[in-house]
Amino acid sequence: MRKPIIAGNWKMNKTPDEAAALINDLKPLVASAQAEVVVCPPATDLAAAAAALAGSNISLGAQNMDYHDSGAYTGEVSADMLLGLGVKYVIIGHSERREYYAETDETVNLKVLKALEKGLTPIVCVGEKLEERESGVTAEVVRKQTKLALLNVAQGDVAKVVVAYEPIWAIGTGKTATSDDANNTIKEIRAAIKEVFGNVAEEVRIQYGGSMNPKNATELMAMSDIDGGLIGGASLKAEDFSKVVNY
Ligand code: 13P
Repeated sequence: MRKPIIAGNWKMNKTPDEAAALINDLKPLVASAQAEVVVCPPATDLAAAAAALAGSNISLGAQNMDYHDSGAYTGEVSADMLLGLGVKYVIIGHSERREYYAETDETVNLKVLKALEKGLTPIVCVGEKLEERESGVTAEVVRKQTKLALLNVAQGDVAKVVVAYEPIWAIGTGKTATSDDANNTIKEIRAAIKEVFGNVAEEVRIQYGGSMNPKNATELMAMSDIDGGLIGGASLKAEDFSKVVNY
């Protein structure tokens, strides 16, 4: 019912030439993927990536965008600028942006609303810190982040949103949530969406992210509520990413 979606978040890696080379390596390896495949290179690589992706089954995503339409926002990139490059998806509220660039639940929400208004698919990241997990408040944290990210989203737009559950302690650490833990927390996220928007929550795709790799992808993807992955480190190598995509 929910088509799996596997996205690569390249973070601050790859020059434009390197991006094109990685995509050219990746294309044949994922050509018959059952899942939707997305790569999210840095903003400076998007034009080169779009050219390299032409005619393939891989979609283009960005890692961030501003929530204003245009204007005096030095260094920022708008939804229209992304659309002009053929971008379809945009990661919003990654924990690294929340932590290092002061993004808040409020700015995340504004970005989600702007992305939807413009026709970009937001991949909204939520996830708990280690101390929150250890304090037993994981469910509350992700429920709150999810509800605030989706505040004022039109009922008809909810099913378009992709959520990525990324426990912060599992990002780049080699530690993965167990498949049961990840699935249970994703069920909490789905329940929170259901409380606000009703049964359309069953249509929302919720990814897992955090040290997902060729070794653990099959088990994670077999879980009832895990509808895909947001892949960091393992998305930087064509072979590894293709193995996750073809889990
Ligand atoms: P890693 O796969 O490197 O742990 O990163 C996950 C992530 O943050 C994807 O957005």
